[in-house]
Amino acid sequence: MSETITETETATESTTDSAQTTSGESQERLREEWTHYRFDGPPKLSVEDLNVWYGDDHALKDVSMDIPEKSVTALIGPSGCGKSTFLRCLNRMNDRINIANIEGSVELDGSEIYDPNTNLVELRKRVGMVFQAPNPFPKSIRDNISYGPRKHGDIETGLLARLLGRDDKDEEQEIVERSLKQAALWEEVSDRLDDNALGLSGGQQQRLCIARCLAVDPEVILMDEPASALDPIATSKIEDLIEELAEDYTVVVVTHNMQQAARISDQTAVFLTGGELVEYDDTDKIFENPESQRVEDYITGKFG
Ligand SMILES: Nc1ncnc2c1ncn2[C@@H]1O[C@H](COP(=O)(O)OP(=O)(O)O)[C@@H](O)[C@H]1O
Ligand SMILES: [Mg+2]
Repeated sequence: MSETITETETATESTTDSAQTTSGESQERLREEWTHYRFDGPPKLSVEDLNVWYGDDHALKDVSMDIPEKSVTALIGPSGCGKSTFLRCLNRMNDRINIANIEGSVELDGSEIYDPNTNLVELRKRVGMVFQAPNPFPKSIRDNISYGPRKHGDIETGLLARLLGRDDKDEEQEIVERSLKQAALWEEVSDRLDDNALGLSGGQQQRLCIARCLAVDPEVILMDEPASALDPIATSKIEDLIEELAEDYTVVVVTHNMQQAARISDQTAVFLTGGELVEYDDTDKIFENPESQRVEDYITGKFG
């Protein structure tokens, strides 16, 4: 009898249509408490009831999650479950996709980023992004780094700088060196800063893209499968770097590599088919003792 009551009660919670999953997931009701991750301090990012549609395709469903600062949050899940879509919502990159319709709330330090008055240039300076395939500009290593700071006015140029006795070349050199050191690339490129960035190896190009992101002093760094195009040695360098960056920055990283998520992240969010956030908790808890059967099946390789 108690079974019947439980059935009725849970039926009123958010439900999922997992019957038509393409990847062999078992059926299961979502439970809100599985995604309520508790941590000390205010969230750096707070996402509430986020929904994204591409035309009629409902790609992200009612996702709510709080992301703590100065740590690594991993987003995992099978291909097509909405990880990149979610990540792009965090600095309004989806705004650039015409057919995307976004509803819900994302707060950065308590301020709504979807407020119509949000300055998108400023937002994307605070919340930077690194993509799957390294995408340096076809310019020198130095110019790749200084492009952002120049655009944002962090490198003083013109009359005012001259009046203040500042030489923008010195400022540029400082930012270039600082950023490349932070991205663990300085030693490898310090003697060829004026060479074209496209001459670097894939792993170096990706660290350059991370340096370019760091050059504008972001607070949050979003990374979408940043190592998936790299060989194991380059991958391990990026993984070390991500862990180091989390001492000063809030890092949110999408990966389809579960070992990678387990190695580098403090907390892990699991998205499954249909654009649902199913479980979000300490990385150890997710990998050792998840609440959701579907998450357990995914982690143990039963589907995905
Ligand atoms: N620019 C886009 N236009 C139309 N549909 C998209 C676009 N980007 C993603 N989608 C769709 O949204 C869903 C989630 O995609 P995505 O966020 O890329 O998932 P993941 O990163 O987990 O592989 C998929 O069904 C995908 O086809
Ligand atoms: Mg993706």
